[in-house]
Amino acid sequence: MKNIVLIGFMGVGKGSVARAMVKRSKFIALDTDDIIESIENRPIKKIFAEEGEEYFRNLERKTARWLKKSVENTIISTGGGFYKVPALRKVGTIVLLNAPFDTIYERILSHVDAPKKLKKRPLLQDLEKARALYEERLPQYLKVANIVIDVSNKEIDSIAKEILKKVKK
Ligand code: S3P
Repeated sequence: MKNIVLIGFMGVGKGSVARAMVKRSKFIALDTDDIIESIENRPIKKIFAEEGEEYFRNLERKTARWLKKSVENTIISTGGGFYKVPALRKVGTIVLLNAPFDTIYERILSHVDAPKKLKKRPLLQDLEKARALYEERLPQYLKVANIVIDVSNKEIDSIAKEILKKVKK
């Protein structure tokens, strides 16, 4: 199996779906934000505040180069802007998790940890800016994806099952 790369907007459930896929398969998952936080030893929020967004985007590109060279047979969940790294398709099969912006936002707000989920995402601080970012990115997400999954009104586990079935084909 090539790697499976989960892309999509903040809060759409990439990490949760990756964890559910691990439970249903023999594969292990990695998360690009976790890799970056680990090599920097500080949270994304701090990296944005202390170094700026471009510094973070550079780390995403570095992570992508490493993934291409060194990682296979792995489920990779990514930050919402990771889809912009060059030659993403060389990392693996790209699966877009998508839902309308309001569905995603409501999903975050209904989470028990909602304040934490919002606070840790610098690009989700202003609702209208976040909505505009979603509108701007959606066509780009669709363009880069090999497989598109509509995650509205679906359980995490059934999304995981659907992806594993589709990539096996
Ligand atoms: C970002 C999404 C975040 C994180 C960073 C930037 C983005 O990841 O990488 O805050 O540009 O959409 P999640 O999609 O996991 O929230």
